[in-house]
Amino acid sequence: MIDPTMNRTRSMVMKRFEERFDEAPSHVVFTPGRVNLIGEHTDYNDGFVLPTALDLGVWIALRPREDNRVLLHSKGRKNPTELRLTDLSGGIPHWGKYVQGVAWALKEAGYTLHGWEGEMIGDVPAGAGLSSSAALEVAVARAFEAVAGETWLPINIARLAQKAENEWVGMPCGIMDQMTAAAAPPGKLMYFDCRTFDMQLLELPTSVELVVIDTMTRRSLTESRYRNRRVECEGAAKALQVQSLRDISAPDFGQKARQIDPLLRKRAMHVIHENARVQRAVQAILEGDPSALGVLLNAGHESLREDFEVTNDELNLLAGLAQEHDTCYGARMTGAGFGGCVVALVRKDEGERFVHDVGAQYESHTELAPWSHILR
Ligand code: GLA
Repeated sequence: MIDPTMNRTRSMVMKRFEERFDEAPSHVVFTPGRVNLIGEHTDYNDGFVLPTALDLGVWIALRPREDNRVLLHSKGRKNPTELRLTDLSGGIPHWGKYVQGVAWALKEAGYTLHGWEGEMIGDVPAGAGLSSSAALEVAVARAFEAVAGETWLPINIARLAQKAENEWVGMPCGIMDQMTAAAAPPGKLMYFDCRTFDMQLLELPTSVELVVIDTMTRRSLTESRYRNRRVECEGAAKALQVQSLRDISAPDFGQKARQIDPLLRKRAMHVIHENARVQRAVQAILEGDPSALGVLLNAGHESLREDFEVTNDELNLLAGLAQEHDTCYGARMTGAGFGGCVVALVRKDEGERFVHDVGAQYESHTELAPWSHILR
């Protein structure tokens, strides 16, 4: 079901299209951003994740073109992205790289691409850990799918969008964000095994809701720090003589941990216990136990702060304020880290009060007024 805000954005993107092209679009595609409830930095270790699709994302209203060009205008950006599908080699500024990368990955995989032109609106804050770039990549793939008049498998779309991000944009991300954008139905949590691609859809207990609050901080060098963590995890797996950190259980690790370098041990500690936390979170959800789930979220944050070291002061402050609020079962940073958002599990219909109180406290400490979003 499309909620009123989504309907408004849909109408807005169609109107902008009509104003520019003097007719109604032939297709409108939507791809969501995501918030990850738990399972952070586990995807590229073949582990488990538990994200949910947001009701925010990327909308594209479009029509086919007769030639082999793509022309995409975006609200809030001065220049459109323009591509010639027959020659993708040219340099392109900034966000156009994602469009170009997806066209490249689809072509590489043998898809026949047709030209199109359109208008885009994205309402996921960029760099906030809510997967605005995966939403853009998958929306672009959906636009190509629409003009091809075909139906492409979500898993293929996700893999190719990830390939675009890894090999064209140069960010060595895992599969979680693109998979959520391509395959997660609204309103469900997607328990996903990043090795086998097995998926189970879950629903939060009806007594709770999720709230996302943005620290409004973004750190430079996120990409190289992310890359370092990947390399460290691979190093830890090698030292522990397993294919990936997914292949070692917490008790086994307890026995072997001493043998490896202290820094790698900390990184492995996070990933191995985070995988176990995801599985326990699934159990808590199936048992309808928000208190148990909240404890896991708090433990996840602590592990990302102490062992994986991807939080910053503002994330720690905001997660701490959230955890102390009387409506809150648990809270943690979400996404890659180094700035961005906290996700909190709060009592149903208390999201507004939670955001008001926690937001005011955060602002009084930092002078930053946080953006927030309640998922219903
Ligand atoms: C980013 C990446 C994902 C994942 C998360 C951390 O969002 O794109 O693949 O690794 O960080 O869990």
